[in-house]
Amino acid sequence: MKSYIVGNWKMNFSVGESSVYLHKLMQKIRQYRSVEVIVAPSLIALQPLSLQIDRKKLRLAAQTANPHDFGAYTGEVSFTQLRGIVDYCIIGHSERRQLFHASDKDIRSSVAAALRNQITPILCIGETETEHTFGETHDVVRDQLLGGLSEVSAEDISKVIIAYEPIWAISTTTGAHLASPEEIAEIAGFIRRTLADTYGEDVAKEIPVLYGGSVNPSNAGAYLTVPGINGLLVGGASLIADQFVDIVEMAKKVQD
Ligand code: PGA
Repeated sequence: MKSYIVGNWKMNFSVGESSVYLHKLMQKIRQYRSVEVIVAPSLIALQPLSLQIDRKKLRLAAQTANPHDFGAYTGEVSFTQLRGIVDYCIIGHSERRQLFHASDKDIRSSVAAALRNQITPILCIGETETEHTFGETHDVVRDQLLGGLSEVSAEDISKVIIAYEPIWAISTTTGAHLASPEEIAEIAGFIRRTLADTYGEDVAKEIPVLYGGSVNPSNAGAYLTVPGINGLLVGGASLIADQFVDIVEMAKKVQD
């Protein structure tokens, strides 16, 4: 299976800065068949960047979108409107769930809407620190996983990507809260078993499972070699070209 390296730029860079940064990345990133490199800029930058991007090297993702196709939804942008502009969309990121109250229904409708519009959903799942402490990780991960996929048809199920992002490990700078490769391997195995029990072994094998949470060039190698992990979702480090490119190079090395 390919390795997926996704850079989530979150709410950073103006449109001009995004374009300059993309240009820099396109110069530094080499084209690899075994690594799919995806960047998720701000919504406002997606359309101009879609005209600039070299799709052989990089693909675009949206960070969220509205599951309705069109209509009276002031301020929203739909998957239908993003069709042809992006190839991927991050769905259910913990910041959407926590800060913007994305409901389970929003998330499962978004996964279905993405697929309906030929956009690959990257469904984010992960437990809070309290849930982690109280041993509820499996329950939370199973609920978010099966809930998010519940409107997906049998023939589309192998077109999704799952990203496991424990909320307590996102954006930590101290290192005190980094998830260990062993913990991630255990949850990646649990995700794969849950997918296999629900959709069958063959389908479960085809679904990429990514890890995200304070990934940087120093820990990316360890995370990329975790059994059952097929790539990384990178926040902070994706805003620094050299760091992001280093992570892509590491993914290539691990694939070789
Ligand atoms: P981080 O963000 O790499 O800065 O922890 C990851 C994410 O939120 O997707």
